[in-house]
Amino acid sequence: MLKSVILAAGKGTRMKSETPKVLHEIFNKALVSYVIDAVNNTGLADENFVIVGHQAERVEEYIKLNYDNAKTVLQSPQLGTGHAVSMVLPYLKDFDGEVVILCGDTPLITSETLKEFVEYHREKKSDLTVMSAIFNNPTNYGRIVRSADGMVSSIVEEKDATQEQKAINEINAGIYCINWQKVMPAFNDLKTNNAQGEYYLTDIIKWGNENNLSVNGYILKDNNEIFGINSKVNLAEATKMLNSRIINKHLINGVTIIDPATTWISPETEIQPDTIIYPSTYIEGKNIIGKHCKIGPFAHLRGDVILEDYVKIGNFVEVKKAIIKSHTNACHLTYIGDSEIGSNVNIGAGTITANYNPLTKEKSKTIIKDNVKIGSNSVLVAPVTVEEGANVGALSVITKNIQEWSLAITRAPMRVIEGWVKKQG
Ligand code: UD1
Ligand code: CA
Repeated sequence: MLKSVILAAGKGTRMKSETPKVLHEIFNKALVSYVIDAVNNTGLADENFVIVGHQAERVEEYIKLNYDNAKTVLQSPQLGTGHAVSMVLPYLKDFDGEVVILCGDTPLITSETLKEFVEYHREKKSDLTVMSAIFNNPTNYGRIVRSADGMVSSIVEEKDATQEQKAINEINAGIYCINWQKVMPAFNDLKTNNAQGEYYLTDIIKWGNENNLSVNGYILKDNNEIFGINSKVNLAEATKMLNSRIINKHLINGVTIIDPATTWISPETEIQPDTIIYPSTYIEGKNIIGKHCKIGPFAHLRGDVILEDYVKIGNFVEVKKAIIKSHTNACHLTYIGDSEIGSNVNIGAGTITANYNPLTKEKSKTIIKDNVKIGSNSVLVAPVTVEEGANVGALSVITKNIQEWSLAITRAPMRVIEGWVKKQG
């Protein structure tokens, strides 16, 4: 099993935020989690080391809370990417396997690419493999310098590059796979005699060649995968890129999405074919959506939602933590939270499940059984159960359970006063 080292000690000044860079989120998940999950999902790694520095305590706390197989290692002060990786030396003295090095701020890397990268490293019998990419505009990246025979000979940082080197458009993606025992001594040999006065991780390439290791380059196919987050602009761009990737997956699987540009679907949402998602729909968290459902326009699923087949969730309907069985409709202006709703239920426009008591801060459940009809503008004050086939009259406030096939109505009777208008004035 291999280990990963994820660099996340940098400051992230351009985020202009009190939150450490790698804890910024895309679809409610921290950037660093995307990287750790991509590594874990390869099934190749058993341990991840996250190098922390700036606001270390917050990142440490987050990692501890969310991962059993990730540990944080403090780098203080931060003297460069090579120095960052060297922080794991005390933990891996006797480790005789591969280490994959990545950055905590490139959330779009996929486990498929990482797997292919490690396979390439193994097939080539490489000791040190660097991931590269071909960029039309390589500015600011380290450039991959290849020798006449095409082998990777070194990496030169933008700030140290000659004009000739600056013209190279193969860049260092910042992801490496190394045979740990062979490359480990390099970390004691790194120098700071460069434009930034830092210990450059990139110098291990030249070191590898000088020490007769097998050094190779793997060229990335989709450059978006190493898109790095340095600002809120980048964060918005990455969110859009991830969303497009998710939308494409669903389209290929047979889901109809009318307007990909205004539809947002979280990575943990499953959708069966023949469901239609209308424009301006926002789907967050973990959800399971059946087939032949219609969702939106302007619907909001907030997570932990299970929709069986043929469910309709329409305009301005918000659903959170709910199971809705087949052929049930909630088509307009409704809030469904902490609920279990049966099949063939009709939820009238403007229905609210009042699940939250702000005094006790407790949430309670609404249970609606099969074939129930809820009249428009009703409030179901949870905890409450509406038994099978019952009807709720429009504008009712339901505070007690309703027996099956009954009508519950709390509306004041309508009065008509004849000629009232003409008698005024
Ligand atoms: C680095 C590479 C460059 C590559 C680019 C890809 C070096 C010297 N350069 O440049 O060749 O093209 O990544 O994105 O490695 N970090 C630490 N501790 C430190 C310094 C950095 O943990 O002491 C972390 C940062 O938080 C960041 C990552 O390492 O996540 C990369 O550091 P950064 O300074 O952004 O490197 P680049 O200049 O982008
Ligand atoms: Ca930098």
